[in-house]
Amino acid sequence: MEKEIDEKIQGQTLVLEHKNENTKKLFIESYGCAMNFSDSEIVASIMTEQGYNTTQILEEADLVLVNTCSIRDKAEQTIRKRLEKYNAVKRDINPKMKVGVLGCMAERLKDQFLEQEKIVDLVVGPDAYKDLPNLLKEVEEGRDAINVILSKDETYGDVSPVRLNSNGINAFVSITRGCDNMCTFCVVPFTRGRERSREPQSIIGEIQDLWDKGFKEVCLLGQNVDSYLWYGGGLKKDFDKASEMQKATSVDFAQLLEMCAIQFPKMRFRFSTSNPQDMHEEVLHVIAKYPNVCNYIHLPVQSGSTRILKEMNRQHTREEYMELIDKIKLIIPGCSISQDMITGFPTETEEDHQDTLSLIEYVQYDFGYMFSYSERPGTMAARKMEDDVPEEVKKRRLQEVVDLQQKISEERTSRFLGQTVEVLIERESKKSKAEWSGRISENVVAVFPKEHYKIGDFVWVKVNNYTSATLIGEAVGYSDMN
Ligand code: SAH
Ligand code: F3S
Repeated sequence: MEKEIDEKIQGQTLVLEHKNENTKKLFIESYGCAMNFSDSEIVASIMTEQGYNTTQILEEADLVLVNTCSIRDKAEQTIRKRLEKYNAVKRDINPKMKVGVLGCMAERLKDQFLEQEKIVDLVVGPDAYKDLPNLLKEVEEGRDAINVILSKDETYGDVSPVRLNSNGINAFVSITRGCDNMCTFCVVPFTRGRERSREPQSIIGEIQDLWDKGFKEVCLLGQNVDSYLWYGGGLKKDFDKASEMQKATSVDFAQLLEMCAIQFPKMRFRFSTSNPQDMHEEVLHVIAKYPNVCNYIHLPVQSGSTRILKEMNRQHTREEYMELIDKIKLIIPGCSISQDMITGFPTETEEDHQDTLSLIEYVQYDFGYMFSYSERPGTMAARKMEDDVPEEVKKRRLQEVVDLQQKISEERTSRFLGQTVEVLIERESKKSKAEWSGRISENVVAVFPKEHYKIGDFVWVKVNNYTSATLIGEAVGYSDMN
């Protein structure tokens, strides 16, 4: 068994997608969400066909592509700094280098990049990556190139992604694109377009390919995975117009997850992100039923105040969210739950903020991703509401939320002390060359002495100690997931 895994890992290195006949060099950099990282793998695949190999050295690149994020102003500022850096390299070292902006900033700012930021040669939105070869031709012929058209049906289901910076064990597989939810603070519906789902067989095909290459864990990705719905193609919002036959043979998220779990019993599955309003009980039963579907749900809520949730156009109240949490705890005992929170949304009062704190206490989240509100141009909140919570109040509330979550996270991590947990080994521990690092089903990191185990092994680990977010232990044997 060990030998088999070893060979699979070596096989993986062979497919590091370096094609000898390719002479041009692509430097591709990604910011923002997992979907962007996954998209960059699609882009790398398209560019490999165009004669490019990826490089980690910016200065030697013929083409630089930066996959951008618009979610908060800070993300955009970071990327602008990077563009300045590319500009300097182009000016001082490599004048032939071409620079392209991909992703959400490309979609949001469109031709502003070509007009104002002279350094950018091409601008490509999230649904236009297949047009990259044509756009590059335009650039080579001395013209600026732009395609920011959003699509009704593009899912890149027919592109086999090149895995970038991969450990050969974990992979993202995107299952939906776009979002129809229109949360009033969020730029995503504008930059990524309407929601559409990818054909189940192409998803299963991609996972099969990953399995054949030795991958052990897949995270199914979408802005809102619970609203996955395949009925033969087309937008989620047009499902009502589908034929009876299409409706009868449609596949929803719970069914897709179950298909994955059954077809690949020795592979672990995670998914991200869930939206409380679309999460159905069936999904919880699938998680509970299949040991290879991880006991972990990322369930962003944004605020604990029903009034603020309404202003955010989230389609549930505080109480409905708490009911969903109760249901998760009942159906999947011990399930890890994490949150996204925003502090200082317009009109948020101290009372609303207290509601957020008390919700965190109620749920006892394992961890969370917390942000202060950043107004995004074009969103409903930007158009209709004044950004009226002072910056220092937003920051103070954020700190209170972070502090509380940290305290609860530590308590949650401590529950594994003395237990034996199943760890998938992902990489060498950053702190010690003598230790492996991996994750348990509940998404907590665990480290332990390497002994004879290898990356990609599923191992039982006895937890002897912990820090706030890491379990420390020792291996006690292989699990039967191998
Ligand atoms: N459903 C998505 C959410 C995308 S945005 C997903 O797949 O993750 C990720 C998180 O960023 C949101 O849940 C929210 O907490 C935060 N966020 C989005 N817009 C924001 C804004 N304008 N200001 C601050 N935080 C924001
Ligand atoms: Fe954004 Fe809300 Fe969709 S946070 S991605 S509009 S679910």
